[in-house]
Amino acid sequence: MKQGKILLVGFGPGAAEHMTYRARAAIAEADVVIGYSTYIKLVKELLDGKEVVRKGMTEEIDRCVEAYEHALKGKVVALISSGDIGIYGMAGPTYEVLLQSGWTPDQGIEVEVIPGATALNACAALVGAPLTHDFCSISLSDLLTPWTTIARRLDAAAQGDFVVALYNPKSGRRTQQIVEAQRIMLLHREENTPVAIVKSGYRRRQDIQMTTLAHMADCDIGMLCTVLIGNSSTFIKEGLMITPRGYANKYADLTGETKSGEQAGRSLTMGLISWHACVRAYIRENPTLNLHKIAAYFDAPLSEILEAVSSTEPSDDAGEKQSWPIETDQIDAVLETSADWGTLRAVVRNEGTIAELLMDAKNFSSKGDWLNITNEHFHLHLNRNKIVNAWFYSHGDKQQGVYFTDALGKLLLSLLLIKTDGQYQETELEQFKQATELYRKRMDPKTEDKNKINDE
Ligand SMILES: C[S@@+](CC[C@H](N)C(=O)[O-])C[C@H]1O[C@@H](n2cnc3c(N)ncnc32)[C@H](O)[C@@H]1O
Repeated sequence: MKQGKILLVGFGPGAAEHMTYRARAAIAEADVVIGYSTYIKLVKELLDGKEVVRKGMTEEIDRCVEAYEHALKGKVVALISSGDIGIYGMAGPTYEVLLQSGWTPDQGIEVEVIPGATALNACAALVGAPLTHDFCSISLSDLLTPWTTIARRLDAAAQGDFVVALYNPKSGRRTQQIVEAQRIMLLHREENTPVAIVKSGYRRRQDIQMTTLAHMADCDIGMLCTVLIGNSSTFIKEGLMITPRGYANKYADLTGETKSGEQAGRSLTMGLISWHACVRAYIRENPTLNLHKIAAYFDAPLSEILEAVSSTEPSDDAGEKQSWPIETDQIDAVLETSADWGTLRAVVRNEGTIAELLMDAKNFSSKGDWLNITNEHFHLHLNRNKIVNAWFYSHGDKQQGVYFTDALGKLLLSLLLIKTDGQYQETELEQFKQATELYRKRMDPKTEDKNKINDE
């Protein structure tokens, strides 16, 4: 008997000229073509003499099972899907069905996935060049995915400044998902962020609407649409939606000179290796800004700013600001030592809430995983396991203290020495300085190393 074969064919957005040679050849080779009835219509010119199996929208697993059954009989089966069959398509379910039935790639039936242009890049081509920088796709279909997962992804994509392509944006029954998506995106993006809505791209009823995030949900959107939401630098000009590639970060204009400090073919000054130097330069230029304002300016976690300050070199300092990382295994010792620092200001920040608590350092205690600051006025409980990094911090005579941050680099707690009548208490300040000297991680291997600290 002839060996069966399953060809998983993505035929592109719809127009014949956007189907790949391989997709066309695969359909030509097939004895049986299986697909959703709308897809079958889109490739009807290629189906002469073939057994055609039309399936409904919800019969996806049936399509896979039927493909396998035909292949077991020695037939070549093309299971077709619009766009790319591996993107919100039938490739995944087919492999799952096959593997569950005991099929393995080296045994009998051959399986080939044939890629095609997916809706997001096909639709992007119709409106300009909106995907020229980092992008992601999110399906708003909650038929198989919990809404909380979709909402989390929307939030993360919006926060991450990705251009976002929304698949399955709206249907007759699912009308509110696009409204919620708009609300979540607006938490992080401007109202005038460009949005393109492409309906039936490269098909007979193609329609394009250009709008903004504020008006997106009011537009005519359905299951045949893909919605492209720009990032913070996407613009619309002459009816074209463009996301800049980033040349403006390096060059004065597209064909012009490199900007001061930048080099062609090299990472930006704000690249991985050198952006901390930019932080220090900014701090020197803005000496009165506090760490939180600096973190907000760079849209970076506080721990990165403390790290940047701590990597100071004599010719590249952070003005009066200084910080020293504390070795992870010394954090508990530092917390214990803080009992000698007198009255402290404990500061806790959480997304728009700031609590500043005046405490005696002796109010500190620990029980199990919890660090507790308890006195007659308040109880503060902090999970010790959340502290991943800690820094001593000093800003001239303006601030002295320790910052504790979590795995995301966010501030969990800072303990700051307080002044009385404009002066630090001499003994407490001295104790703090001694602790800084003792527990700070030595940045220069030529100076005393950590072993020395442990010996002391
Ligand atoms: C189940 S997904 C299938 C995606 C397909 N496998 C692909 O790669 O494009 C269906 C969604 O794809 C998008 N889509 C597919 N073809 C499209 C087209 N020609 N124009 C606009 N959107 C399209 C729509 O968002 C639609 O709701």
